[in-house]
Amino acid sequence: MKKDDLGAIPRHIAIIMDGNGRWAKERGLPRTEGHRRGAESVRAMTEGCRELGVEFLTLYAFSSENWKRPKREVDALMKLLEIYLKQETKVMMKNNIKLQAIGRLHDLPESCQKALHQAIETTANNTALTLILALSYGGREEIIDGVKSIVEAVGKGHIDSAMINTEMFGKHLYTRYYPDPDLLIRTSGEMRLSNFLLWQLSYTEFYITDKLWPDFRKDELREAVQAYGKRHRRFGGV
Ligand code: IPE
Ligand code: IPE
Ligand code: MG
Repeated sequence: MKKDDLGAIPRHIAIIMDGNGRWAKERGLPRTEGHRRGAESVRAMTEGCRELGVEFLTLYAFSSENWKRPKREVDALMKLLEIYLKQETKVMMKNNIKLQAIGRLHDLPESCQKALHQAIETTANNTALTLILALSYGGREEIIDGVKSIVEAVGKGHIDSAMINTEMFGKHLYTRYYPDPDLLIRTSGEMRLSNFLLWQLSYTEFYITDKLWPDFRKDELREAVQAYGKRHRRFGGV
């Protein structure tokens, strides 16, 4: 993918991958077929971001609230995740992509956790792009887990409560190793965060498109990055 005419390239892109079900419904297909096609968009994004020189890509793959869906759909999504992880490890090795994950990962089925940790371990030394999957992830849950971790450290006398500030709080979140996202993309037109990265998106640029996730591929990514290049970020200054 060419990047000459794009302007500033975001260092970290986060995506709320939404609209798989609607994509399938429009075609009279089962929702799971939408998820299967959505997984192909994931591969396109990883390739596209690597080609553009993006350093971090965080994908919202399964939210804390998505457990409320019918068991049949949840099971299909977990199966798809496991297959994806097993298949994509080779591709990630070839493309020098490092896999990471955030969320309450211990909630995932045993076989998914195993495939996930295997893929994370195998790709640990890759350096081109860090792909972070948000799985069983909720922004509020992450903040609660951060508070618990701080309270524990204070209790043990490792830190003094007077030392708590935004920077140190960030170090108790799942995302402590990554910079905050520069660009947030949400597909399928919904104007909400749905409990995604509540803390980290404070100064992120938003890009919302009506395209459904299975239709969001490299050309659409390019358009989003181009729009980002035209933004004027002020961070509260002038
Ligand atoms: C996004 O697509 C995938 C997940 C949330 C796992 P949806 O399944 O939410 O699709 P819509 O929003 O029903 O179209
Ligand atoms: C957000 O999409 C979660 C993911 C993309 C994983 P949802 O489809 O779950 O969000 P709502 O229900 O429309 O807010
Ligand atoms: Mg949805």
